[in-house]
Amino acid sequence: MEENRILQLCRKRRSVRTFEDRPLSKEQTDEIRQFIEAMEEPFHAGVFFRFLNREEYGLSAPVLKGEPAYITICAKKGPYGDVAAGYAGEKLILHLCGMGLGTVWIGGTMDREAFTKASALSEDEMMVCITPVGVPAAKMSLRENLMRKGVKSDRRFAMPAIFQEEDSLHPALQDALYIAALEAVRLAPSAVNKQPWRIVHDSEGFHFYLERSLKKTEECDMQRVDLGIALYQFCAGLEEKNQDFRIVIEPKEREGLEYIASVIAE
Ligand SMILES: Cc1cc2nc3c(=O)[nH]c(=O)nc-3n(C[C@H](O)[C@H](O)[C@H](O)COP(=O)(O)O)c2cc1C
Repeated sequence: MEENRILQLCRKRRSVRTFEDRPLSKEQTDEIRQFIEAMEEPFHAGVFFRFLNREEYGLSAPVLKGEPAYITICAKKGPYGDVAAGYAGEKLILHLCGMGLGTVWIGGTMDREAFTKASALSEDEMMVCITPVGVPAAKMSLRENLMRKGVKSDRRFAMPAIFQEEDSLHPALQDALYIAALEAVRLAPSAVNKQPWRIVHDSEGFHFYLERSLKKTEECDMQRVDLGIALYQFCAGLEEKNQDFRIVIEPKEREGLEYIASVIAE
């Protein structure tokens, strides 16, 4: 059986920091704008995007080379803005990957003030992250190579480190649907590749937690963004197989973990 498309995209996606120095075509720009306009996310946290041409706005980021444009990922200020930005942002990033375009989540290594200003936000809005968008260059820059090695970007934890089974009657890892969805989470990108997602499965559903390993900054909580990304990759796997589900926020305390949300299959 052919592997599902979402999982294929999750395997194909990697952070791209070196681009062919040429603009996007009109068709590509139009498709991106349409996708952005139709974006929906389950937390209703007012996520929106700004598409910014590099030259027009005079922007740059030190880790990037040759990028023609950026998309800033923004949300209304509120308790789930960061998680929702992760969810919707990853939906966009996987779509761009499917179009053959390169992206990378950037929450730290950029001039946050300049990108926030270019995003023209109102008082009750925040810029969460940015991504460049463009055609990936055939060869990574030296800096990109070093960055990948520095944070061991090609490594991921094995499943037992991130997933805990508490439903002995219906173990998720015996069901192809959940194997694929959990594998998609395992492959997800995360800030400094910390992979902070922890998932507990019980008879009710899948509960997503954050095991914090990075401090939150004043502007944004990157590890809650990571959890939004993981939730999207999990849910996209279910959606693709027409498995109905809902996302609920019904906190269940666990020592050493921060509860984020649960996915309940229906
Ligand atoms: C929320 C978030 C923030 C990130 N911030 C940065 C950043 O500021 N600069 C950067 O170069 N990469 C950043 N990254 C990219 C990660 O380093 C990268 O996803 C991770 O090393 C895994 O590599 P991969 O995306 O190629 O699989 C960020 C990723 C996420 C998810």
